[in-house]
Amino acid sequence: MTNPLIEAKNLRKYFKTPGGVLHAVEDVSFQIDSCRTLGVVGESGCGKSTLGRTVLRLHEATAGEVWFQGENILKYNRKKMRDVHKNMQMIFQDPYSSLDPRMSVYNIIAEPVNEICRKSYSKQEAEEKIRQIMELCGLPLRYANRYPHELDGGRRQRVGLARAMVVEPRFIVCDEPVSALDVSIQAQILNLLMDLQEQRGLAYMFITHDLCVVRHISDEIMVMYMGQVVEYASKEELFNHPLHPYTKALLSAIPTTDLSRRSRIRYTLQGEVASPVNPSPGCRFAPRCPYAEERCKGSCRLRKVAPKHYVACHQFE
Ligand SMILES: Nc1ncnc2c1ncn2[C@@H]1O[C@H](COP(=O)(O)OP(=O)(O)OP(=O)(O)O)[C@@H](O)[C@H]1O
Ligand SMILES: [Mg+2]
Repeated sequence: MTNPLIEAKNLRKYFKTPGGVLHAVEDVSFQIDSCRTLGVVGESGCGKSTLGRTVLRLHEATAGEVWFQGENILKYNRKKMRDVHKNMQMIFQDPYSSLDPRMSVYNIIAEPVNEICRKSYSKQEAEEKIRQIMELCGLPLRYANRYPHELDGGRRQRVGLARAMVVEPRFIVCDEPVSALDVSIQAQILNLLMDLQEQRGLAYMFITHDLCVVRHISDEIMVMYMGQVVEYASKEELFNHPLHPYTKALLSAIPTTDLSRRSRIRYTLQGEVASPVNPSPGCRFAPRCPYAEERCKGSCRLRKVAPKHYVACHQFE
């Protein structure tokens, strides 16, 4: 068996806050192969962005491992991390704030080339690379000297994409890359991401709170609740046989135009949201779970319930 392109093992990220230790990412493990997309879904504040940033070491992990091409990159020094960032990039959620307003489109895209691949290309080669990537990302060359504020949201996100893509990475964390865009533009950017994946064999971690988007783009899906993974399955398994009460609640909230499915049960979430600061052990969803029992206060690990299907819930032990 070959190793996955990227693998996280028991990754944790805690933040020290005035109120105590905030457990933003708790024991998260996953694998992503080349050409595959892992969708990460969950409500606002459940730790999706923190997870993506920790994988790329934009945050230092509190514990755990991130394996890329057979090595644990969390042990790398700064110089070796620069090589890693040639292979691992990020597209940020907000195309309005993630691009430097004082830099032209050309310079924004050129920056990672200058920083990461300075020695690999001559000036001419770098210029050619930037031209090619702009074309690939649907950015006509006439935009090269424009500034971010002169572009609409879709074009700005294409600049973000070109900037991530220009160093020819093998893995990209896409943090809600279409959430700030109009629906029609969302589809264009998603299709562009999928085309680029096919052409370049890219692996994506695709973070979103939008289940329709995650269904469109993912191969596997990880559902997070307050820093913990509650369910992890292939897309087909997750949408056809959701098991965790939280996943069921999320899926039942998707609007449908299919009248035959209108009568299905809606799982609404009640109860108080637990705090991620100094959380008690056990399932963090328990305070809102209609099936919670005494044993849910004890620790609850992800268990395999079917091929390509894992769930963290005592109901399925
Ligand atoms: N730098 C930080 N310092 C302290 N707490 C943080 C920091 N960054 C994130 N958090 C906290 O960690 C938790 C997870 O935040 P995160 O931004 O990862 O969530 P998210 O799932 O990406 O949410 P959203 O969907 O709103 O983007 C939240 O409780 C947040 O307040
Ligand atoms: Mg986020």
